[in-house]
Amino acid sequence: MTATIVNGRQIAKEIRKNINYDIGRLKKKYQTTPVITTIAIGQNPSSELYLKLRNAACDEVGILSKILHFKDDVSEKTILQTIKCLNDDPAVHGIFVQYPTPSHISPTRLMRTVAAKKDVEGFNPENLGRTLIGDEDLVPCTPLSVLTILEHEQVPLKAKDIVIVNHSNIVGKPLAALLLNRNATVAVCHVFTQNLKRYTLQADILITGAGVTNLITRDYIKNNAIIIDVGIIETLKGIRGDVDSESVKENASLITPVPGGVGPVTIACALSNMVKTYRHCIELSA
Ligand SMILES: NC(=O)c1ccc[n+]([C@@H]2O[C@H](COP(=O)([O-])OP(=O)(O)OC[C@H]3O[C@@H](n4cnc5c(N)ncnc54)[C@H](OP(=O)(O)O)[C@@H]3O)[C@@H](O)[C@H]2O)c1
Repeated sequence: MTATIVNGRQIAKEIRKNINYDIGRLKKKYQTTPVITTIAIGQNPSSELYLKLRNAACDEVGILSKILHFKDDVSEKTILQTIKCLNDDPAVHGIFVQYPTPSHISPTRLMRTVAAKKDVEGFNPENLGRTLIGDEDLVPCTPLSVLTILEHEQVPLKAKDIVIVNHSNIVGKPLAALLLNRNATVAVCHVFTQNLKRYTLQADILITGAGVTNLITRDYIKNNAIIIDVGIIETLKGIRGDVDSESVKENASLITPVPGGVGPVTIACALSNMVKTYRHCIELSA
């Protein structure tokens, strides 16, 4: 058997089509264009590529995307003040901070400062808390992308053994909460996990986002496993994920490719969160 390869670009296109319709309707109703502001600190080629792709997606669906660029050595105080101004600005309907930030700026302090109703990434403790208790509203974009793909491919989650290789605040932890909310049994692995293979071999669904090429090979997966590759690694041969897809494709039942898998769906999920923040801002002030 050869694995089905998920077409993330097609899934993203379908999501954008629905968003385009929603935005058109909301603009007509409220007579305002949704405006999202991004805070980008320093220069990072992968962040710049992501922002370029996200801006093109915003244009396509009718969201006005503005970017505030800051130099690497900007103070944390300046960024916090900027976020507070954006929180108070009624003309801004969503705030997005580009992570990672330079080491002198605390990402968690920024996450705490973005107003919950404008929190496109769903990292504010209020939104993360809602994700944790199953009252999901603004859910972090990458975990939402993984869930969207699994739902699109009609993969049942209830009672499945799911292994996540990543325990970051932006991927693994919120994703574990989303899957637990759907009654899967979830193991979360990271660099200190002893004998990673012992876990991955049990997985009906393996979700990996370590950022390490060829971390997952055929001997790490169970027959017919579903493999979701979140990793994005720039190599001399182009963008790659964590999974050696050539080696696993005969054993897996479904694989997301890199590029063209989780990445485009993550951008589409960011757009759907923007629709939510727009609605929260407009409807709360109406
Ligand atoms: N496709 C998308 O839309 C999307 C979105 C965001 C990020 N990404 C990609 O996803 C990857 C992770 O992003 P991130 O921001 O979450 O990065 P991160 O904070 O560096 O997280 C990487 C995670 O993988 C774990 N890890 C690293 N090497 C490992 C190994 N050899 N064995 C087991 N676990 C290992 C780390 O454990 P420790 O924490 O213990 O070190 C950590 O939990 C990157 O490649 C990034 O580019 C993709």
